Amino acid sequence: RSPTAASSSSSSFADANAPRQPFVIGVSGGTASGKTTVCDMIIQQLHDHRVVLVNQDSFYRGLNTEELKRVHEYNFDHPDAFDTEQLLECVEKLKSGQYVQVPIYDFKQHRRSSDSFRQVNASDVIILEGILVFHDQRVRNLMNMKIFVDTVLGFIWQFIIDADVRLARRIRRDTVERGRDVNSVLEQVSLFGVMLYYAKFVKPAFDDFVLPSKKYADVIIPRGGDNHVAIDLIVQHIRTKLGEHDLCKIYPNVYVIQSTFQI
Ligand code: ADP
Ligand code: C5P
Repeated sequence: RSPTAASSSSSSFADANAPRQPFVIGVSGGTASGKTTVCDMIIQQLHDHRVVLVNQDSFYRGLNTEELKRVHEYNFDHPDAFDTEQLLECVEKLKSGQYVQVPIYDFKQHRRSSDSFRQVNASDVIILEGILVFHDQRVRNLMNMKIFVDTVLGFIWQFIIDADVRLARRIRRDTVERGRDVNSVLEQVSLFGVMLYYAKFVKPAFDDFVLPSKKYADVIIPRGGDNHVAIDLIVQHIRTKLGEHDLCKIYPNVYVIQSTFQI
């Protein structure tokens, strides 16, 4: 078959006016592993493209009065703590080129703002970041690229140092940036032994849900935001993918010829 014949039978490849589908990147990893830091670095490097960041945290369910009274018994690290249906709907809309209203979550009140939202517009790249963004298969299926951020990589020490580093970072981050006092952060965790600590919910949920979802990652970034080489490589890949989209829009037949030869 000639390229022309292929072109007429596969009009979806050849429609130069078709809107470009955004490139969706999932960024997962344990709490305070550096997910937001890595996302910020990718966004900075892609300054010439429209990139939006959607945080899974925005989709935490608000607690009711009873749950608020016993907030220290509430497991914020379990998949059920998130409204995944709403997250899914939001990413699907963004992927189809529509804008969305993302809830604003208050980590101090453990609830969403009732009257304000953040409007997220259609864009070239959508980054979805959160501890459990790889947990639900339907959400994973929307992603073109999946990144897992590791704090420290290295045999058995990973299990000790990784958790330890993240705890220290989290205390600082939650007290400085999330308006929490040290006691409320520490109430979520309990120290066990000299070097090891196990959170009541955070560490078990990391082991049960976050770590098992690492296998879905296309790329694992050791040392998080300190790993400039990994971030450069990821940005290069995204640029290549965005470039392919552009080529397809400008020269639709180029794509058709390629696909015909592949067949
Ligand atoms: P996450 O989004 O995974 O929860 P963040 O990127 O918000 O993690 O990082 C958690 C805290 O640790 C933040 O205060 C951030 O500034 C800090 N942090 C992130 N990466 C590093 C790093 N490589 N070295 C030191 N501190 C870091
Ligand atoms: O940004 P990060 O990935 O650290 O956010 C997830 C963490 O936020 C979870 O480990 C959870 O324990 C914590 N969290 C919290 N208080 C809330 C909601 C989530 O400390 N109200």
